[in-house]
Amino acid sequence: MFHYEKKLQFPVKIATPNPKLAAFIISQYGGPDGELGASMRYLSQRYSMPYAEAKGLLTDIGTEELGHMEMVAAIVHQLTRNLTDEEVRATPAFAPYFVDHTTGVYPTAASGFPWTAGSIQSTGDPIADLTEDLAAEQKARVTYDNILRLSDDPDVNNVIRFLREREIVHFQRFGECLRLCKEKMDTRNVYLTNPAFDKIQPRPAAQG
Ligand SMILES: [Fe+2]
Repeated sequence: MFHYEKKLQFPVKIATPNPKLAAFIISQYGGPDGELGASMRYLSQRYSMPYAEAKGLLTDIGTEELGHMEMVAAIVHQLTRNLTDEEVRATPAFAPYFVDHTTGVYPTAASGFPWTAGSIQSTGDPIADLTEDLAAEQKARVTYDNILRLSDDPDVNNVIRFLREREIVHFQRFGECLRLCKEKMDTRNVYLTNPAFDKIQPRPAAQG
């Protein structure tokens, strides 16, 4: 169950609309390394984690990523509010998005590819999933770095820097979680068994 709090994790107050920037930042809403994918990835993977600490961490971070999705949506919305047709015509980077979605917030990559569950995994194997999560956090951090390279609006950059820092914190916490799982698992078998499946159907005893 989720409880909704009607405030953002970090405030978004953008003074100057900038549709060109919105066309880039939408990638952290619905791109391959964006916040929608992060929350779906972690909130799906949590079920097959074999330890309470890992389940709890994935639930915590997956929930926080939902809050980040909301912040990215707020940025895109504020950057595109009250646009005139002339402003859209003068912004070729935003015009293709405008044709499909006007100024609605839609989960797509900056390249125009819509969000797909094909950009995430949930394998039931804690080592595979947590290793993907480490990579996902680094890829999200790189995307925020790239947005900071393209933006000179301090109202936007303050929020992006906050989100970027959270990716680094998540990377650290997933690293700790991976170490904990490896310590708790039979390390000799880490790469041979998937606890979500193999504990239900134990392997037959060796014959002879
Ligand atoms: Fe994250």
